[in-house]
Order: sequence, then C-alpha cells, then structure tokens
Amino acid sequence: MKRETWQTKIGLIFAAAGNAIGLGNLLRFPSKVALYGGGAFMVPYFVALFLLGIPLMLIEWVIGRYAGAKGHGSMTGIIGSFFNHSYGSRVIGSIGVSIPVLIVCYYIYIESWTLGFAFLSLLGKMPQPVQSPDYKAAMEPYVSFFKDYTEPSLTALVFLVITLAINWVILQRGIVKGIELTAKYGLPLLILMGIFLGFVSLSMNGWKGVEGLLFIYTPDFSKLSDPQVWLEASGQIFFTLSLGMGAIATYASYVKRNEDAVKAGLWTAGLNEFVEVVIGASIAIPAAFAVFGALAVPELAKEGTFRIGFMTMPAILMSLPFGSLLSTVWFFLLFIAALTSSLALTQPLVALLEDEMRWSHSKAVNVSMLLVSAGAFLSAFVPGFIDDVDFWAGTLMLLFFGLLEIIIFVWIFGVNNFHRELNTNSFIRIPKALVYFFAVVSPVFLVILLYFWGVTKLPEVLSQTEPGVLIARAFVIFVLVLIAFFSVESRRRYLAGPHM
Ligand code: ALA
Repeated sequence: MKRETWQTKIGLIFAAAGNAIGLGNLLRFPSKVALYGGGAFMVPYFVALFLLGIPLMLIEWVIGRYAGAKGHGSMTGIIGSFFNHSYGSRVIGSIGVSIPVLIVCYYIYIESWTLGFAFLSLLGKMPQPVQSPDYKAAMEPYVSFFKDYTEPSLTALVFLVITLAINWVILQRGIVKGIELTAKYGLPLLILMGIFLGFVSLSMNGWKGVEGLLFIYTPDFSKLSDPQVWLEASGQIFFTLSLGMGAIATYASYVKRNEDAVKAGLWTAGLNEFVEVVIGASIAIPAAFAVFGALAVPELAKEGTFRIGFMTMPAILMSLPFGSLLSTVWFFLLFIAALTSSLALTQPLVALLEDEMRWSHSKAVNVSMLLVSAGAFLSAFVPGFIDDVDFWAGTLMLLFFGLLEIIIFVWIFGVNNFHRELNTNSFIRIPKALVYFFAVVSPVFLVILLYFWGVTKLPEVLSQTEPGVLIARAFVIFVLVLIAFFSVESRRRYLAGPHM
C-alpha cells in the first residue's frame, strides 16, 4: 500500500502550521497569560519555547520523516522501528497515539461550540448586550447563555454531530485532498481574520487595548521562583505546538524523503508562535482591558479557560457596531483554528490502523472517528470529564512522552545518528554541540517539571473521586488499553506484510 505524501511545499507548511495552531493559541494562551500575571508568564514561556519547544519540534519532524520513509506514521510504528518492533516498544509507542486521541475527544466538542456560536451569532441569536461598566453585569447574559448551551442543549448536540461529520469527511478524503486542501484555504483565512480582530481589539476605546498588550509584554521577573508559573508556561508550549502528542511526527511522516525537516519544523513553530504571541495576544486580553479595565482581566481568567473566549468576547463584540458580525468572525476564527488541529489529532490513530493494522483508509477513518465520537459525547454529557482528561492527556502525559521522545530518538538512536538525520537536506548546518546541549538540558528541565507536577498537582487531582471524574479515568484507561491492543496485534500483521 503506497503512503500518501503532501502534494506541495506550501500545503505541507500550512497543514503543519494548522496542526499546531488551534484553540491553544486563541483561548488557552490568553487565559493562562491573564491568570499568571502577563509579563510574569511570558518569561518562562519563552525559556520553555527555546529549551523544549524548538528541540522537540525538530525531533518530531526529523524522526517522523525518517520513519515515514519506512512506512510508519504512528508512534507505535515509529518507536517500534527503533527496537525491531518488539512488543514492549510498540506498547510504549501506543501511548503516543492514545494521547492525541484522548485530547481530540474533548477538543472536538469545544470545537463544535465555536461552530455553534458562529452560526448563532450570524443568525442574531446571541443575547443582546447590557451596557454597563461593571463587567459582571455586562457578562451576565452571556454567562447564562453559555451555561444553557453547554448543558448540553439540543443545539449543542446538533453542532457536535455536524462538527464530527466535517472532520470525518475531510479525513476520509485523505492527506492531500482532505487535510492539505483544508489547510490551504483555512490557514490564510485564519490569519486574515485574526489580524482583523487584533486590530479591532487593540483600537477599542481609543486604542486602550494596547494596554492589554503591554500587560503581556512588560517582563516581570518577580514570579520566576514560583514553580506553578513554570509548569503552566511549559505546559502551554507543549499544548500549543502539539508536542509530545505524536501529531507532528505523524504529519512529518507524509513528507518526501528529500524534504527539509529543519525548515519545516521552524516554519511550524514560527507560524504557531506568530498566531499565539502576536495575534492571540492582540485579541481577547486587549479587548477585555479596553472595555473592563486591568483589574477585571485576572478575575475573568480565574473563572476558567472558557470564560474569556465564550463569554467575555461576545459580550464585548456584541456591544460594538456590527456586533453580530464581529462575533461571527471571532467564533469562525476559533472554528477554523480548531478544525485543522482536530484533524491532526485524529490522524495518528488513522495512521496506526492504516500503516500497522493494514486496514483500508476508509475503515481506519471510520473506526477512529467512532472512538472519537464516543469520547466527544462523553465530554458533552459527563460533568468533570473534560477537565480530568485534559489533566491526564493534555498536560501530564505530554511532558512524560516528550521526555521519552528525547531518550529514544536522541539518546538511544544516538547523538551521531540523530545529528546526521537532522542535517540531511537541511538548509542550515546544525552543530553537534547544539544536539548535545538539547540532549542534556531539555530532559533535565522536563524531569524537574514532572517532579513539580507530581508534588503539586497530582495529589489534588487524585483526591477527586466524583462519578464524572471516575468515568473520565475509566475512559483514559480504556483508550490506552485499546490502542495498546491494536499496536500489539498489528505487529504480527506488520511482520507478515510487505516491507517498505
Ligand atoms: N496545538 C493545538 C492547539 O493549540 C492542539 O490547539
């Protein structure tokens, strides 16, 4: 079975950037920045970008291209290929397929809200704005609206089904006609809408929005001794760049062997950071600053990741001229960003079922989407499900898997081998000293972070035993076991099948 490859260079770059750019850039980032003190968050954020983000991005690109040439696009096959496809290595690799699948289960549900809110804004069905300087009063109608919608309402379920169907159809069309085509149209549109909304937000109330940007960009070193800020900033780097999820390596496996992985990796990280620290930083926080003032912003962020994007933003935009239209643009922007990421988060499982189980593309997509749909409906109906799965798969496992990637792809593969692969077709020569530096510094950084997760967050999360949380955990275990099963079962098929 011949594997597809990206058709054009620009398509490949847009698809990879679309993989990374998502709700993390436009919702998660502003909430975290607001919560952790603006400039105080950005210092560890940039440290984590250079010590973890860029190295892991390059590792996933280089290894994805390397394994793709051997016919493997999922972490099961990629890690397996370094250990002669032993059962153990395939099971460890399977964690790198479970992580994106678990994330996409709740991610796609949130994506469906953005589509639903975009349509409701367009149809003039959002609540009418309340003109009040008090942010609580101004937001009240939008807070109740969000609560009713996510109960879940029938409308929410209809949009969930539509969102699942859109993802399903695009994935069925494959790499070139599905994912690449979506990214080719989606990414430029996303950037245009983002720049437009950034301009609207910064210029609000006589350019008062600029104060919000200054809040983010005035460096504050006072919180550097707080491990919590480091954890959150590093977690954000992993989430936003889609690292430790296997999703980047899967996309990299569809490049031609002579592609420049370093250039592609730097483009992916560069475009993602542009949409995060330039566009993402210029919309929600500046708008909230301009309309509700500096004191309200951290308060809003304390109410959770969804408060600023789904309640504050429509409250602000709806009170402007052409409010419904602006609100439509905001939610459609979120939808496009989320769509290109949800495709990328599902593709690793599709790749596992296609490359390793040797199923037809159609069957691989159907089974993957059935599992994702089940998880999405659980996210909709089970209280506490989203937060718990986000903790395990969207935070802790990413750090763990990132560490594992460095150990396997740099230490075990060998610094010399990795360095050779890195420089193959690269437009710049990366010195070996840099590989040594990353091979040592990044893992140490990750171990310290994992230690702090262990002592600060883990006991708190483990102490939760509400039924919804237990269902979430059971689902996490179910997915881990199911994908481990596919990974083990497919070894036999892989060894029996034709080798590439
Ligand atoms: N990297 C994706 C995002 O930022 C998952 O949303």
